[in-house]
Amino acid sequence: MMLPFALLTLVACSGDVGPSADSEQAASQAQQLLATGAAGDGKQLYAACAACHGAKAEGNKALAAPSLRNQQDWYLRRQLQAYRSGVRGSHEKDAYGMQMQAIAKTLPDDAAVDAVVAYISGLGKKAAEATLTGNAKRGADYYSNLCGACHGPAAEGNDILQAPALAGVDDWYLQRQYEHFQQGIRGASEDDKYGYQMAMMANTLPSTEVLKDVLVYTQSLAR
Ligand code: HEC
Ligand code: HEC
Repeated sequence: MMLPFALLTLVACSGDVGPSADSEQAASQAQQLLATGAAGDGKQLYAACAACHGAKAEGNKALAAPSLRNQQDWYLRRQLQAYRSGVRGSHEKDAYGMQMQAIAKTLPDDAAVDAVVAYISGLGKKAAEATLTGNAKRGADYYSNLCGACHGPAAEGNDILQAPALAGVDDWYLQRQYEHFQQGIRGASEDDKYGYQMAMMANTLPSTEVLKDVLVYTQSLAR
């Protein structure tokens, strides 16, 4: 009885375990759907995304797929193109990024990218549920000193600087992304112009505790 329990604890504590069998299955179904499916219709294209990102793009933590509802259309489009060109999701330790890259590459063309993004944007904004705990007041200080100049005073994003919204985006997902920037798993290549900029900022917060404080604060700004 003790051994399985110990193993389970080990898996639970090791953090980034990578895609589960469930999400691998969803990925191959999505690719099949995209390969055989409708070209330009955003709603039909989105059917291939729903298994992971949810029927209304609300996200699915168990599959590590973030909510897409509070993200701006220009950012969604740029990320899909970044996966398609291999700028994002190519690092060997980026198991989730690689999974998403394979799917994005199955989108037939730029028109399909635009169509699926238009469909997601049409669902309207809906803030993701907060899952982290921390000191929002301390987070606010760090945020306004180190992050707000690019991500916007209300963490609403800034298209001129190409810095995405953080308010209302899944906090567990943002924590993982920040840590990936920090560890050189995302944004390490100079070809990734904007990812590289962010990676240079990902050593400024002193600890995981403060990162959580910042994300608790940005989540409190969500609408
Ligand atoms: C097999 C599950 C799966 C499917 C199917 C899937 N995704 Fe994803 N998606 C993910 C995961 C996991 C991530 C997080 C990747 C990472 O950590 O880099 C992600 C990330 C994204 C991001 C980046 C969000 C951000 O804030 O940076 C976008 C945009 C996205 N997906 C759009 C789509 C679209 C559009 C489709 C359908 C064409 C789709 N996804 C299908 C699992 C999936
Ligand atoms: C110099 C401008 C700049 C500053 C300052 C900055 N960022 Fe960013 N950040 C960006 C850009 C640009 C991106 C988009 C990167 C990409 O396209 O891959 C980004 C992306 C992110 C992402 C990933 C979002 C997603 O949906 O995947 C997180 C998380 C993030 N930043 C957190 C922070 C935090 C926390 C701070 C403060 C410590 C901060 N950023 C400071 C420019 C900045």
